[in-house]
Amino acid sequence: MKFIITIAVIAIAGLVIAVSFFPSSPDTQFVEAQRSSPPAETIQQVFGPIQPIQAAVGLDPDKVSLGAQLFSDPILSGDNTISCATCHRLEAGGTNGLPMSVGIAGGIQQINVPTVFNSSLNFVQFWDGRAKTLEEQVSGPVENPLEMGATWSGVINRVKANSDYAKKFSDLYTEGVTKDSVSHALAEFERSLTTPNSAFDRFLKGDENALSEEQVAGSILFQQLGCVRCHQGQGIGGNMFQRMGTKKDYFAGRNDLTVHDMGRFNVTGDEYDRHRFKVPSLRNIALTAPYFHDSSAATLEEAIQTMTTYQLGRRLTEQEQQLLVSFLESLTGEYNGTKLSLEASVEKDDQNGKQL
Ligand code: HEC
Ligand code: HEC
Repeated sequence: MKFIITIAVIAIAGLVIAVSFFPSSPDTQFVEAQRSSPPAETIQQVFGPIQPIQAAVGLDPDKVSLGAQLFSDPILSGDNTISCATCHRLEAGGTNGLPMSVGIAGGIQQINVPTVFNSSLNFVQFWDGRAKTLEEQVSGPVENPLEMGATWSGVINRVKANSDYAKKFSDLYTEGVTKDSVSHALAEFERSLTTPNSAFDRFLKGDENALSEEQVAGSILFQQLGCVRCHQGQGIGGNMFQRMGTKKDYFAGRNDLTVHDMGRFNVTGDEYDRHRFKVPSLRNIALTAPYFHDSSAATLEEAIQTMTTYQLGRRLTEQEQQLLVSFLESLTGEYNGTKLSLEASVEKDDQNGKQL
C-alpha cells in the first residue's frame, strides 16, 4: 500500500503543477517539501481543498437532546402527522430516499430532500441558499403548506401544553417556549449531526490502509478532473453556488421547468443566478440517492455522468467512472460512532413489518 500512496502522492504533486485548481499556484519549494515530508502531512497538503470533518464541539447536550426529541415529534406539524424525521430519516442517510418531498396530507413537491447530516457545514441552507442559518431554515418546513403545514403560534401552543416540553424549555431557555428557542434547539441538534471518520478522512489523516487502490485512484481522478473546484471544504461541497450546466445547457429543451429549477434566481431575481444552486456536500453520498435538486439521477454512476457532461464537458471511460464511484463510497462517515448504512434502515423496516 505504501508504494501506491507514494505513486499517488507523486502523481497528485504533478497535478498540483499541471492543473490550476488551487487558489494560488504552488512554487517548486512547496512541491519539493511535499516529496520529503511524511505521508500524512503530504496527503493533507495535496488534498488541500478538502479537509476531514472535525467533531462538533461546544454544543449543549441538553439542548441537543431536546432538539432530537422535537426533530422526531409530529407536534411540529399542523395535523400532528409529520415530523422532520419523516422526510429526513436519520437511519436512511438523512433523506427520504424518494425523488420528491411528501408532506402533510400527501402534499408533493418536485424537489429532492437533501440530507440533514453535516448541514451545519453548509455555508447556507436549501438548494437555493435562501436560509443563512440552521435556525432560519427551520421556519421553511414548519410553515410550508406542502411540508408540515403549521403556524408558529399553533406550534408554540402545542409545545407549551406538553408538560414535558414546557419543563425542559423553562429549564434550558430563559424565554421558555418561543419560535426562537424551538428553532435553536432543533438547530443545536442538527449541529450534532456531523459524520466524521469516513475512510477518506482516515486516509487524509494518514491511515494509508483506509482506502482501497481503486479509491486512492478515484480520489486522484476527482482532483484531476476538477470536481474539487466545486466540491471542497469539510463538506466536500456546501461552500459555494454554481450553475447547473457550466459547460452544456442542462435545462435545454425542457418544457416542464419548475420553480425549483430556477435555483438561486428565486432568491435574488438576478438573471446571473438562474439555475445556480448551492453545490451539495458529497459526504455520505452513496446513501442519499436519488441525486440532484430534481432527482434526475437514480444512481451514482448516472450522477457522475451528468456532472462530467454538464459541469466538465467531457466523457469518462467506464473504468474512470467506477473509480469515482469507489472514491465517493469512501465518503460514508460515522454518526455517534457507528458507520452510516442503508442496511440498518432495511433491517429496521423489516422489523417494523414483522411487528405490524
Ligand atoms: C415534507 C418533507 C420535509 C419535512 C417534514 C422537513 N423537511 Fe427539511 N427539507 C425538505 C426539502 C424538500 C428540502 C429542500 C428544500 C429546498 O431546498 O428548497 C429540505 C431542506 C432542509 C435542510 C437544508 C439542507 C441543505 O443541505 O440545504 C435542513 C437543514 C432541513 N431541511 C431540516 C429540517 C428540519 C429541522 C425539519 C423539521 C422542522 C425539516 N427539515 C422538515 C423536506 C422536508
Ligand atoms: C462547476 C461546479 C461543479 C463541478 C466541476 C462538479 N460539480 Fe457536482 N455538483 C455541482 C452542483 C451545482 C450540483 C447540484 C446540481 C443540481 O442539483 O442541480 C452538483 C451535484 C453533484 C452530485 C449530486 C449530489 C446530490 O446530493 O444530489 C454529485 C454526486 C456530484 N455533483 C459529483 C460530482 C463529481 C464526481 C464531479 C467531477 C466529475 C463533479 N460533481 C463536478 C457542481 C459541480
